[in-house]
Amino acid sequence: MSTTETAIASAEAHSAHNYHPLPVVVASAEGAWMTDVEGRRYLDLLAGYSALNFGHGNRRLIDAAKAQLDRVTLTSRAFFHDRFADFCTELAALCGMETVLPMNTGAEAVETAVKTARKWGYRVKGVPDGMAKIIVASDNFHGRTTTIVSFSTDPEARADFGPYTPGFEIVPYGDLTALREAMTENTVAVLIEPIQGEAGVLVPPAGYLPGVRELTRERNVLFIADEIQSGLGRTGKTFALDHEGVVPDMYVLGKALGGGVVPVSAVVSSADVLGVFRPGEHGSTFGGNPLACAVALEVIAMLRTGEYQARAAELGDHLHRELGLLTGGGAVEAVRGRGLWAGVDIAPALGTGREISERLMEQGVLVKDTHGSTIRIAPPLVISKEDLDWGLDRLRAVLKG
Ligand SMILES: Cc1ncc(COP(=O)(O)O)c(C=O)c1O
Repeated sequence: MSTTETAIASAEAHSAHNYHPLPVVVASAEGAWMTDVEGRRYLDLLAGYSALNFGHGNRRLIDAAKAQLDRVTLTSRAFFHDRFADFCTELAALCGMETVLPMNTGAEAVETAVKTARKWGYRVKGVPDGMAKIIVASDNFHGRTTTIVSFSTDPEARADFGPYTPGFEIVPYGDLTALREAMTENTVAVLIEPIQGEAGVLVPPAGYLPGVRELTRERNVLFIADEIQSGLGRTGKTFALDHEGVVPDMYVLGKALGGGVVPVSAVVSSADVLGVFRPGEHGSTFGGNPLACAVALEVIAMLRTGEYQARAAELGDHLHRELGLLTGGGAVEAVRGRGLWAGVDIAPALGTGREISERLMEQGVLVKDTHGSTIRIAPPLVISKEDLDWGLDRLRAVLKG
């Protein structure tokens, strides 16, 4: 057996099979490139589902982490630490908001948003106890907890995990009429992804997001934007909602906030909304720890320059222009997305998304399928134009067969 086969067999023997990874075993990585245990190099066009927006081994982020490792890594929230205030202040400023509630993973931040909205509904809006409703969209992906999968429409994510958490109403994504009709006086929040990543990088129709803003404002309902995958530079702006000039009541952030170094997530909102929490009502041992804050502070400083957003916009235009040329030839049926983020529907006759991903892997390019024959392309924002073009050449070669 090869080194790769041995490593995979050993991993499969001792791990739950809740993933179906491509058969590549990564040993090191730098920038947009990964190297496997046999020394083969791969261009990373997935970027840890946007967690690696700033690339592998980003010097600024690694240095920030190393410096913090030598000082203090964890205090728990039982005490203050000297990076906490800066992290909250800077993240709130980046979001144009006031208050931050730090967590670790994306799913935890979504759970936090759900709990915030319910508490706000009871304490501020005056919804009768136990009656709060949150409206979500079909084909959403917000994480894997029992509450979150309760409002998933993906049978794979949901089946056999019941009983499900009540209090959620699902409406078709992009449909303002359905959203308006679903709202009642007990609706406390609308929770949506401004671009649905896992669903295949679905961009909603123009006017939908401003429409959601208007409706939620009119009905005294919180607009919660899950920008865990779409936010922090990926689409060519700091937030995907910025493209439509929309400001939500609450951002839910994760992935790139930890710079691909440590898990960092957060809910960011107004002092009024996050002010509903009293000590003991919510928390996390690791949320807002010194190491997380040190890395995230560097991420925020990098985003403040606008350099990464500009890069994603410019290279993203190039990516979408090149992918657009592939449609019409028969091999690619549709391309969606914004910035350095694309969902590419391959003609099913050419193979499933998984098969295309495997063929690309053989060519030295790593991508991930979403559903059916759709692959997603989301390179680190630090990728060079030459490397991106090289990856696109490999895609063309694979589609030619
Ligand atoms: C939009 C969105 N929300 C939430 C999550 C969950 O994040 P995590 O896997 O860190 O729990 C994801 C992960 O893919 C996501 O894309």
